[in-house]
Amino acid sequence: MRLFHAAAVALSFAAATVAAQTPVKPEAPYVPTPTEIVDRMLTLAKVGPGDYVIDLGSGDGRLVTTAVATYKARGGQGFEIDPKLVKEANANAAKAGVADRVKFVEKDLFTADVGEATVVTLYLMPDMLGRVEAKLAKELKPGTRVISHDYPLPSWQPVDVVRFDTGEKLPISGTTRTVLLLYRVPDRR
Ligand SMILES: C[S@@+](CC[C@H](N)C(=O)[O-])C[C@H]1O[C@@H](n2cnc3c(N)ncnc32)[C@H](O)[C@@H]1O
Repeated sequence: MRLFHAAAVALSFAAATVAAQTPVKPEAPYVPTPTEIVDRMLTLAKVGPGDYVIDLGSGDGRLVTTAVATYKARGGQGFEIDPKLVKEANANAAKAGVADRVKFVEKDLFTADVGEATVVTLYLMPDMLGRVEAKLAKELKPGTRVISHDYPLPSWQPVDVVRFDTGEKLPISGTTRTVLLLYRVPDRR
């Protein structure tokens, strides 16, 4: 019995070590949201001084940094798996003069603490969004706005949908078509 216990402890220690050492693979490629669309997303979500904005998969940090520098959000955070992008995003926040209110962290977005958000921004692959939706439903305060670039959350109903064409999208997706979907976290019953 003691041997079994020792083996179980050794196994769980080994599993934890492997888990800690295995880097999480990005499930979405890095494709920055064009600046015109950054503005459209933040405007549609009505970002303002009361807001704390979190971008899941934050790339070079443009959504959160623009939210604070231009739309005067009180602060924000980005979670990103690629350490080079995290470094670049923090440098961009410093250049924009908002490093005291904005932080980019190297972290798997599925384990990120999102509880402080009043606005969450997303530009992720469709096959991630079911899991993202489940996380947000559990962890966000009711009423929090969630804005998704191009891809819908699978079971929430958007409160607003905006479609437009922009040439900035052509080199990214081969089409000018863009859709922005705005959601509000539903009340928990
Ligand atoms: C399409 S880009 C969007 C970047 C930024 N949000 C924007 O709109 O400009 C998706 C980003 O998600 C990051 N990513 C993918 N899987 C991730 C994960 N599990 N955790 C954190 N970041 C992830 C990628 O490295 C990439 O930078």
